[in-house]
Amino acid sequence: MSNTLKQSRETLSLSSDLANAYLETIYDRNVAPTEIAVAGLDDFDRPMPTSAGDPNETLRLLDRLGSPATTATTGGRFFGLVVGGTLPASLGARMLASAWDQVVFNNATSPIGVKLEQVVAKWVLDILSLPDKSSVGFVTGATMANFTCLAGARHTILERNGWDVQKQGLWGAPCIRIIAGAQSHVTVLKALTLLGIGTEAIEWVPCDSQGRLDVAQMPKPDDSTIILAQVGNVNSGASDPIADIVANSNGAWVHVDGAFGLWAAASTSTSEQLEGYDGADSWVVDGHKWLNTPYECGLAICKHPTAVHEAMATQAPYLKVGGKAAPKDMVPEFSRSARVVEVWAALHSLGREGLQELIDRCCRHARTLADGLRDQGFEVLNDVVLNQVVATLPNSAGWSAKLAAHVQKSGKAWFGPTNWQGREAIRFSVSSWATSDRDIKQTLDAISEARLSLIG
Ligand SMILES: Cc1ncc(COP(=O)(O)O)c(C=O)c1O
Repeated sequence: MSNTLKQSRETLSLSSDLANAYLETIYDRNVAPTEIAVAGLDDFDRPMPTSAGDPNETLRLLDRLGSPATTATTGGRFFGLVVGGTLPASLGARMLASAWDQVVFNNATSPIGVKLEQVVAKWVLDILSLPDKSSVGFVTGATMANFTCLAGARHTILERNGWDVQKQGLWGAPCIRIIAGAQSHVTVLKALTLLGIGTEAIEWVPCDSQGRLDVAQMPKPDDSTIILAQVGNVNSGASDPIADIVANSNGAWVHVDGAFGLWAAASTSTSEQLEGYDGADSWVVDGHKWLNTPYECGLAICKHPTAVHEAMATQAPYLKVGGKAAPKDMVPEFSRSARVVEVWAALHSLGREGLQELIDRCCRHARTLADGLRDQGFEVLNDVVLNQVVATLPNSAGWSAKLAAHVQKSGKAWFGPTNWQGREAIRFSVSSWATSDRDIKQTLDAISEARLSLIG
């Protein structure tokens, strides 16, 4: 055996042992790391080694200092943000794909990457019931997926007005109108600003008590307009009335941010809330949220592949020759990993039924959590239609951040404070495949204990 192979083998099997040892504790461990573990990170403050060392020692150091200082987002009691854990198949696929070290640039650099992108594109369009000719770009997350789709929208609208934004830039360009629900996610706005469209250009539309865009108050769009809609409000889980938005779009480009919520389309129990979403022009969904792939897995889906291609292509000839565009000409990144393998592995290992069951189970846990909070005297502020719960304590002030911090510090669960429609609250997103009935009970117990010790 060559020395290179020997070293790779040893290091890989060590990393697999260390990863297994980590996972053995993660489902029962404190969710937040201890203060001692975090303080231990200072041990990383060393000068860079002068000479080469043993790679196994590098890994051991990483594990010894790093593993205890992680937040257990991959366990069952992390309810912050809207992120899931990692399904076993996806974790294994990422480890294998790391060994492959593919660059999904084009067919020559990664036949497997390109093939799986084509396969997953078909599967995703099918399970989400989206138009089958849509393009699916694999990017780092919903922020970049929003950026990718909105670049396509910008290109199309300016082209309609006789302006080639790739060549002419934005100085002196015709105006693009933006209509957005007041509850649009901050990252959609960030994507807009990255595209040179300032937030002052936005015509805001008020939302109802659940955070849904009120179509009756929407200004009349035209074909120079992008409408920003969402399925799955980051607090309430509610979805904008996309069917009505599309019906009133008047030639505008309708973009749907479904970072976590679009997966609800894969379950017959939840899909009806998303009525008409398939009539939009572009959609965003994350693998690393409700599908439970590892991070850096976002999907940019567009009914008009040419628009995205024109905005993202790096070589003019591609624009002219037609045919299939290389992956590098459909997303912002030139070089990127075969992150599609994690999406493929998640979908393959779950199957349609498993995916539906995952969605339904998280929604059921959210309802149990909401009921348990009501039993403790909380007021649940949202209709628990998906996996999100927002709750407040009536007649109390200044409690939410303290209560969230108390529970985080206890290590028993992790959720954050929020402000929902002017009221302070705590919010939960049940997005992990690993969350069990026991996790929900432990979380409710931890909240009860925190509430007693802080408020009485
Ligand atoms: C509705 C919505 N859109 C976009 C994002 C941004 O996603 P990412 O962090 O994958 O870029 C989030 C993240 O929570 C979200 O909830």
